[in-house]
Amino acid sequence: MQKILVTGGLGFIGSHTVVELQNEGYEVVIIDDLSNSSIDVLDKITSITGRLPEFENIDLKDQSAIQSFFKKHKNIDGIIHFAASKAVGESVEEPLKYYHNNISTLIYLLEEMSINNVSNFIFSSSCTVYGQADKMPITESAPFKPAESPYGNTKQIGEEVIYDTTKVTNLKAIALRYFNPIGAHKSANIGELPIGIPQNLIPYVTQTAMGIREQLSVFGGDYPTPDGTAVRDYIHVVDLAKAHIAALRRLIENNNKSNFEVFNIGTGKGSSVLNVIKAFEKVSGKQLNYKIVDRREGDIIEAYADTSLANTELKWKTEYNLEDALAAAWKWQQTLK
Ligand code: WQD
Repeated sequence: MQKILVTGGLGFIGSHTVVELQNEGYEVVIIDDLSNSSIDVLDKITSITGRLPEFENIDLKDQSAIQSFFKKHKNIDGIIHFAASKAVGESVEEPLKYYHNNISTLIYLLEEMSINNVSNFIFSSSCTVYGQADKMPITESAPFKPAESPYGNTKQIGEEVIYDTTKVTNLKAIALRYFNPIGAHKSANIGELPIGIPQNLIPYVTQTAMGIREQLSVFGGDYPTPDGTAVRDYIHVVDLAKAHIAALRRLIENNNKSNFEVFNIGTGKGSSVLNVIKAFEKVSGKQLNYKIVDRREGDIIEAYADTSLANTELKWKTEYNLEDALAAAWKWQQTLK
């Protein structure tokens, strides 16, 4: 049985990917420092798949801990690397925290992979690397724009660090550029667990519908879009998780066409904030209390993916639509205390 290390495997996307890995028969070991996740997720994963993943509570900023990990876990066949800080606003206030936690850790991991001859690596990247792309839908050949935040910059730098490393080691890597991950597992055992006031749209929507938040602020009603609100590509987190399995299989089976490949992982469909609100009201039966306010600093107008490369090369495509994802997010929210 092939053994896969998932860093950040107790997080939102990480936990959903662990479930899909186990469903596909992989053995999973998780590294997580629990800085933005809960140890309870381990049992939740097990309640879905019937298998308890191995777990190591390691902070990847501790290089000696990574060295000890590889001494203990000799036969790692691949690594899916989610562990990183991901709050755009926080990254503006604490840039060094982000460069340390997102870049130093990546460098330590790549160094130990090379020493321990682990070559298959999937990197959690983001459509944020494109900034406001000039053309929709966005293809992988769209250029990087100057990053809008240190968070976005760590994704650009991360890809470049990996690319340069593949040229001089046996590293084979795929960067998956996520659009907007939303939703939850159909069991409602795992989902998004924002700490404090949600920065992202969907948890704020579901918390407003629950009465936890008074009113949703819609950031900007004067964008050059059909209804004036910003457009994003919202992808169900289970579809996103399955894209990681497809990418990992491509590397393990040596079907990669170069040692550094990138794929846009989205639905290929753009939805405005008002589209999301309308779809949520339909699937939940709730009337959402919202108000259109000023734009949020740093937000782009629109982003949605051209997914043809992932469709053809990874033989992957989305199975869920926006309403499926919103219904799953709403079901998940109702299980939270
Ligand atoms: C989506 C839309 C907001 C909250 C960021 C990162 C990306 C990824 C996902 C980490 C925007 C609007 C939001 C609210 C609103 N990061 N909005 N009211 O900014 O597209 O992407 O998060 O995984 O890399 O860049 O996602 O969910 O914050 O916003 O109107 O209370 O919803 O303006 O148009 P975003 P988001």
